[in-house]
Amino acid sequence: MEITEAQIKHFERNGFFLLPNPLGADGVRQVDFRQQEIEAEWERTEFPQGFNRGACQFLMAGELLLHMVERPEILDAARRILGDDDIHVGACGLGDASKTVSADGRPQRQVHWHADGGPDVQQVSLRTALDRHDSSNAPLRVLPGSQHREREEVAAELLQLELATGTHDELPELCFARHPHEVEVILDPRWTLVWTPSCWHATGVKTAAGPRRAMAWNYYPSGGRTRDVEALKYLIPSWSDWPQKRQRLWGLVG
Ligand SMILES: [Fe+2]
Repeated sequence: MEITEAQIKHFERNGFFLLPNPLGADGVRQVDFRQQEIEAEWERTEFPQGFNRGACQFLMAGELLLHMVERPEILDAARRILGDDDIHVGACGLGDASKTVSADGRPQRQVHWHADGGPDVQQVSLRTALDRHDSSNAPLRVLPGSQHREREEVAAELLQLELATGTHDELPELCFARHPHEVEVILDPRWTLVWTPSCWHATGVKTAAGPRRAMAWNYYPSGGRTRDVEALKYLIPSWSDWPQKRQRLWGLVG
């Protein structure tokens, strides 16, 4: 997997690029199988408060997924994109997030516009769909370049577009409306999305039946986020036996 300068430049400008899935068809099949193997147990497990459930599922899947995150060519790519040799994994997730999204009673299975970060947060996320995320399966929608803009400014713009739909009696709390410059990413398991969650994003509506599973993980430069460290320690108690280098990669030691 050779990342080109053109891809890195596209990432810097627009906040994303796509590359042939580094896991390959075989890797995707293995993750698919493993995910189905653990899903029932994950569903009935209550995790300690504050743990991200998607991260718990990823970590429950164990070494197979950890190894994918640790593949040297992927780490090299992340180091080049972030311009830092000392990177770590600060967040991860596995499963069908569209199920949890609708739990707050919203009318549609759809994620509203938001950014997980901002112009000051450097991060790179790899996202692979285990089921094709096409237009009917809540595809990710990104607003290219918005990772460089002030959060308040983008939020105000999205609010105006939302009001322009003419569907609101009161000021809406969440925005879903199409932005004229958004890109709807139809993610097929054959491709992996490399993007920054500092870029504003939402999803389309899930109208298709069936699963919408994905695996994703984020790399950060030194000092960056370590959201899932406690979940990792809890679900993989053998972490303390890991070599120092591996502990460092997973943000377990600073
Ligand atoms: Fe997000």
